[in-house]
Amino acid sequence: MAIHQMVKYFLKASCFVASIIFLAAVPGLPPHTTFPTAEFNVTLPRELEGPLAINKLLDYADHILKNEINGPETIIGRGDTVYMGLNGGNVAIFKKGLVMPIFQIGKPCKRRSFDEAVCGRPLGLAFDTKGNNIIVADAYYGIWRVDLKKYRKTLLVSPKQILPGKFINRKAKIFNGVAVDSKGDIYWTDSSSDFTFEDSVLAGLTNPSGRLFKYDRSKNISTVLLDELFFANGVAISPQEDFVVVAETGGMRLMKYYVDGIRTGESEIFIDGLPGHPDNLTPDENGIWVPLVSSADKNNPSGFAALSQSPQKREFIIRLLTIFEMPFKFVEHIIPNPFSKYFIHFIGHSKMFSALLPKRTTIIRLDWNGNIVGAMHGFDGSASMVSHVYESGKELLLGSPVNRYVTRVFLKVK
Ligand SMILES: *[C@@H]1O[C@H](CO)[C@@H](O)[C@H](O)[C@H]1NC(C)=O
Ligand SMILES: *[C@@H]1O[C@H](CO)[C@@H](O)[C@H](O)[C@H]1NC(C)=O
Repeated sequence: MAIHQMVKYFLKASCFVASIIFLAAVPGLPPHTTFPTAEFNVTLPRELEGPLAINKLLDYADHILKNEINGPETIIGRGDTVYMGLNGGNVAIFKKGLVMPIFQIGKPCKRRSFDEAVCGRPLGLAFDTKGNNIIVADAYYGIWRVDLKKYRKTLLVSPKQILPGKFINRKAKIFNGVAVDSKGDIYWTDSSSDFTFEDSVLAGLTNPSGRLFKYDRSKNISTVLLDELFFANGVAISPQEDFVVVAETGGMRLMKYYVDGIRTGESEIFIDGLPGHPDNLTPDENGIWVPLVSSADKNNPSGFAALSQSPQKREFIIRLLTIFEMPFKFVEHIIPNPFSKYFIHFIGHSKMFSALLPKRTTIIRLDWNGNIVGAMHGFDGSASMVSHVYESGKELLLGSPVNRYVTRVFLKVK
């Protein structure tokens, strides 16, 4: 190699190192997060033994509605009708083999997956206990009540509202899970108050800012029950309605919050050390289905959990990615265009943190004491990235934020 070439490389490398040091050290640059970036702990995944022992019960799974739908993140059902929240913003029904969109909280948009903030993204669905309605958590548009006759939409909690926090009041940025109690009050989650769903990856790198709320229907107000949850997600109400369970996707655990009895207002860990990231919860009389949307184990810890101990690294990555996104967001703001939309989407939903994760798909069955009853695992990829479990007779329908189908398996554990 000629000397002048070496000098050139050396200069390039120094520029690179200098810009990195600049980015890492300059104060006042983003992120401007709700809570300071500090060290926190995520319990290590448990061993896959006992009721979590390896099996292949999710292998050879069927795909239904293939290429007819995109990203059925949430799935609930009643009678012969299944309701799904889809990528592109629609809520659709699946009945007698046919799928049909029924309403959308957001605005119709062409470039489906890259226009999420406009289309909306229904991440939580629950049947109302007061009237023939469905309650929807749309990541971008808030909590809504939609009647199932004429699909009239009523806003319950707006993304513009300043909502209470334990210490800091602030807007919700990712409306995610919903559950309705017998009185019609709604438990719901905000996953992060720092980034929107489009920037979920960044949300997973900030200090936890998720919240669990209770929405009082008669007063139309939300009170905060838990704060600083690590990506608060699915919610489940216990059969006696004495506690609620909330999934912390980033924390790989479920928290329990007492809403009735002498322990009202107290909380504790329901289960931690899950071998992956829990998503929507599906409760019934005997327990809860917990899908893991991505897997982790002791040798392959989740990137988010591993980085929880390294605030500087997290701050640096967030800074790098937000600064990287800035010109694209700026251009997008002036001239909306598919290229910058795609790029922003690409960064925010980046799979770089899942590249090293174990290629295992798992759903877990818990009882109401937080004990693992059993687990179904898959290794052939036919079931993947499961975000919701819907039990229908002898079958389970599995939703996913990314797959273009619903996965169907036979129920083998319970
Ligand atoms: C994390 O866990 C370690 C080891 O148990 C402990 O020393 C440390 O104080 C914990 N950090 C936080 C922020 O809780
Ligand atoms: C509830 O309050 C929010 C925030 O003020 C408002 O936007 C919404 O329209 C209200 N909904 C109902 C049903 O009163």
